[in-house]
Amino acid sequence: MTKAYDQYRESTLGRADVEDTPELLAYYEQLRTLDVGALWTVANKIEPWQPKSESLPVVWRYKELRELVLRSVQLVTPEKAGRRVVYLNNPGRSEVSAAVGWLYSGLQVMHPGELASAHAHSSSALRFIMEGRGAYTIVDGHKMTLGANDFVLTPNGTWHEHGVEADGSPCIWQDGLDIPLVNALEAGFYAVHPDLQQAVGYPVDDSVNIWGAAGLRPHDVRWSKPYSPLFKYQWEPTYEALLKYSASRDDNLFDGALMHYTNPVSGGHVMATMGASMQLLRPGFKGKAHRHTGSFLYHVAKGEGHSIINGQRFDWRERDIFCVPSWAWHEHVNASHSEDACLFCFNDLPVMEKLGLYREEAFADNDGHQPLLAAN
Ligand code: FE2
Ligand code: FE2
Repeated sequence: MTKAYDQYRESTLGRADVEDTPELLAYYEQLRTLDVGALWTVANKIEPWQPKSESLPVVWRYKELRELVLRSVQLVTPEKAGRRVVYLNNPGRSEVSAAVGWLYSGLQVMHPGELASAHAHSSSALRFIMEGRGAYTIVDGHKMTLGANDFVLTPNGTWHEHGVEADGSPCIWQDGLDIPLVNALEAGFYAVHPDLQQAVGYPVDDSVNIWGAAGLRPHDVRWSKPYSPLFKYQWEPTYEALLKYSASRDDNLFDGALMHYTNPVSGGHVMATMGASMQLLRPGFKGKAHRHTGSFLYHVAKGEGHSIINGQRFDWRERDIFCVPSWAWHEHVNASHSEDACLFCFNDLPVMEKLGLYREEAFADNDGHQPLLAAN
């Protein structure tokens, strides 16, 4: 849609437009004492013409953050801190500790031999491994070994704990949770495991061995929980799938070759409240601009490039994280002539879709590209 259309759509026709008078101000005050209010004083704010995200587009650059994340190891122990995490604080959403919209994210560091206590919470969580050797996660007794660019789930209500093997190296990963959403819904519980640690009850990596074969479903294993039984999604098969997908069809105009991580039982999103995807932007890819509802947090798994978000350019390279707030125009570019770029992303799409709130539109003017407002 065009700017002119937006302005027309946002005209004051049919909207509350009442000027304050001494009588009205006294009336409002009288209402306030009874815990009520006049709708026309707030209607335009609480019913906007279109989503107005309070989140700002931000890029968090790993070269600035990595040293600070590592320094937390000297400053606090995991026992005292609970989790040694530097969280991403969107300047528009700092009051709820959100990275974007109702999504939380942080960078967690663990040294070899460290182990966090097992716990469970109402928030769903995911983890994207950034660097290090020997990281593992245990979910309801299923232990998963983790390497760079692997993606692991710890869904709502599951007992989980993370650690790094004694012969590993310092590990950093990105956490992604729906904490702000669960808190907004006032539905959050948190519990520490009664034994502090949980026993590993299955062969290591059994979740991948049982559920991870593409196109095959195990005959005698039942699963009815509202999240994927495949807790770990490995980088190598994901990248290989993207290369094949990209080689076999034309690019999506906005996203290049994008694949969603799926629950192998349902084919749907990996968890009830958060979805995730990995996309490949081939060398020279110049995506067109679009916008949609939902909040999106991107992690550069490979390569470098830039995105234009609401007219502002954000350069990114491997391990940087950036966000696209709901209804923000965005377009992604891989300017390299030789290297592809891969973007991991997690989002609240399952919520948007289930509640019937997903909407999307393409940028119509200027051959589908936003005019650049300012460099970042
Ligand atoms: Fe947790
Ligand atoms: Fe998009």
